[in-house]
Amino acid sequence: MTDAAPSRFESPAAVRDGLRTVSYLADEGIAGVVFLAERLGKPILVEGPAGTGKTQLAKSVAELTGSRLIRLQCYEGLDESKALYEWNYKKQLLRIQAQRVAESDGHEGWSDIEEDIFSEPFLLTRPLLEAIRADEPVVLLIDEVDRVEVETEALLLEILSDYQVSIPELGTVSATQIPLVFLTSNNTRELSEALKRRCLFLHIDYPDIEREKEIVLTRVPGITEALADQVVRIVRSIRSLELKKAPSVSETLDWARTLLLLGIESVDAQTATETLHILLKYQSDIEKAAKDLTSSTTTSASR
Ligand SMILES: Nc1ncnc2c1ncn2[C@@H]1O[C@H](COP(=O)(O)OP(=O)(O)O)[C@@H](O)[C@H]1O
Ligand SMILES: [Mg+2]
Repeated sequence: MTDAAPSRFESPAAVRDGLRTVSYLADEGIAGVVFLAERLGKPILVEGPAGTGKTQLAKSVAELTGSRLIRLQCYEGLDESKALYEWNYKKQLLRIQAQRVAESDGHEGWSDIEEDIFSEPFLLTRPLLEAIRADEPVVLLIDEVDRVEVETEALLLEILSDYQVSIPELGTVSATQIPLVFLTSNNTRELSEALKRRCLFLHIDYPDIEREKEIVLTRVPGITEALADQVVRIVRSIRSLELKKAPSVSETLDWARTLLLLGIESVDAQTATETLHILLKYQSDIEKAAKDLTSSTTTSASR
């Protein structure tokens, strides 16, 4: 393993300003961890509620640094053959069949084929190996890592510890640079202590009002500041209710886009109630929020 590539960021503030240029609004906590991870060559484990910009952070850092993004989407049942590499059996079989034909003409024997079918052209490279073999700078996104089984988690840990892979038939492949690695988790289960120890930890929660407003202004072109302000304030108050599923940043954005499309300049209780299904995905949550919106606007109107 060689040293990390020359540093991509000068300071946490540079990370924050840089991310802004690619439309990602980071707070100090996010910028600080990204800065450190890059300096220390450590993976970042990003955790937090759904739709708060965990996946987008990796994508935006890749965009900002001009790195190739290699993504490993995790799911239950993901194994080494889909995460690391596997041999292309179909192609190997075809090769063997072709060989049989050649052999009947008195050509090469089995040992030649064996060497041949376990060589580069028969290898199917999966994201982890791809990231390790890359010559150019890469950002490796291991998305929703909490979905994999413990065995696969152990494999990830192994890779993230030495950035090398040994392929029995081919030898050991070592990274020539340490990729910037992001693991995201929605916390559906606890990850192993060992994996956590290997990573820098970053919790991304719902943004504060100011940052969410900036996100809306950046991601919803054409929206007025006043409407953006109103949208994030209402979302904020809805998030404070006891809900099955609180609205995420992506839902705030969907709602803002909807209101803009409907030509709404200012949200009143009625428009909010009519469009709540964009923000909330459970009928009981919608009813709760509608009730709250109506009562809060009547109290403020009677003030
Ligand atoms: N800090 C942010 N700056 C800009 N956009 C954001 C930010 N956080 C969330 N978003 C928006 O919300 C969407 C959903 O974020 P995503 O990264 O998919 O969430 P998750 O945390 O579930 O991975 C993104 O595509 C992006 O448009
Ligand atoms: Mg995600």
